[in-house]
Formats: sequence, structure tokens, C-alpha cells
Amino acid sequence: MDNRAPPWHPETDARSREHMTEETIVPGPGTARAYRDALACFGTGVTVVTTRTETGPLAMTANSFTSVSLDPALVLWCPAKASLRHDAFIATERYVIHVMTEDQLDLALHFSRSGDDFSGIAWQEGPHGLPVLHGCLARFECQRQAVHDGGDHSIVLGRVERATFDSGRGLIFKHGAYGRFFRLD
Ligand SMILES: Cc1cc2nc3c(=O)[nH]c(=O)nc-3n(C[C@H](O)[C@H](O)[C@H](O)COP(=O)(O)O)c2cc1C
Repeated sequence: MDNRAPPWHPETDARSREHMTEETIVPGPGTARAYRDALACFGTGVTVVTTRTETGPLAMTANSFTSVSLDPALVLWCPAKASLRHDAFIATERYVIHVMTEDQLDLALHFSRSGDDFSGIAWQEGPHGLPVLHGCLARFECQRQAVHDGGDHSIVLGRVERATFDSGRGLIFKHGAYGRFFRLD
């Protein structure tokens, strides 16, 4: 049985999915692609996490951001252990999570490719010398509370010391593609 999902394409997805039948897989080495496709059904926002290191500012695009607790204000995100930036991000005591607007796709793509190239990026040093990116929809200034093991990722739990937010629309990531929020109600 071939239990892999077909490659996904934004333009054809809506039509091709109409003809797809539901499939069930057991996550494992032979079903990695299909499992990713199942997870990709869940749309998320896109964030860029920044911190300061001994060698300068560091950033990483992440969609694993989640609110955990309101009181106390706790949020998490998950850096992959395979990432070259992983160790710096689990070691740092303070970091800033920036929520991307729908106009910041280029910024998100930039920091998915490069973590330490801030040339041409609009930013400034904020509290504790942390890099603060300009023009984001929201930003959460965090102090690390705990780092948990999460398989091939780490789970970084942070206490939000300050949240800043603006009106506007966020960048959406779903099925490996980027989009805008479209209101239905
Ligand atoms: C939309 C998007 C979301 C991402 N989310 C995560 C994430 O939550 N965790 C993670 O470790 N990497 C995530 N990445 C990948 C990182 O941004 C980055 O590409 C990766 O750390 C590169 O590894 P390197 O540090 O070895 O160059 C995401 C990339 C994109 C484009």
C-alpha cells in the first residue's frame, strides 16, 4: 500500500482535495511525508524569535509558538535539535517572539535561511540588549522559565514580561504555503 500523500500545491489543493479520500497512517519512518501533510492541515501564524548572543543578534523563524498559560503568562516555542541555532536559543535567558504581519513574508523567509544576518533589516536594541524587529503585529518579551525535551525538538517555555501589539493582519502558514487571514463571520 502506498500510504504517502501526493505533493501539495497551493493552486491545485482546493480542487485536488475534493477528489481525495481520507487516509490514515501510523507515524513512522515510512510515513514521514504523509504525517507532515496531516500536521500541515493545522494552520498557524508565523513568528521570528530573536535573542542576543556573544557574537551578536540571532533570529529564527518559527511557527511552533503557542500560548500555554494566561496567569502566569507563559508561552512556548520549539527549536529543532538539528538546527545550528538550537543551542543558542535554549541557552539564552531572554528572547523576543515577534508575530509577522501579512507583509512580512520576506522577513520570515530571510530568518529561516540566515540567523545572524541583520543587514538591511529594520531593528533596534530593546530591553536587555535584545533585538527588536520593526513593524511586527505583536511581540512578546520573554524570560526563559524551562526547557523540556520534545523528541527531535526542545520545548522552550517562557514567561512573558511584556506584550506589545498593533492592529493589522497576521501572516498565515498552512499546507507549506503562506497566506492571509480571511474572515468568515
Ligand atoms: C514558516 C516556518 C516555520 C518554521 N518553524 C520552525 C520551528 O517552529 N522550529 C524550528 O526549529 N524551525 C522552524 N523553522 C525552520 C527555521 O526557521 C530554520 O530554517 C532552521 O532552524 C534552519 O536551521 P539552521 O539553523 O541549521 O540553519 C521554520 C521555518 C519556516 C519557514
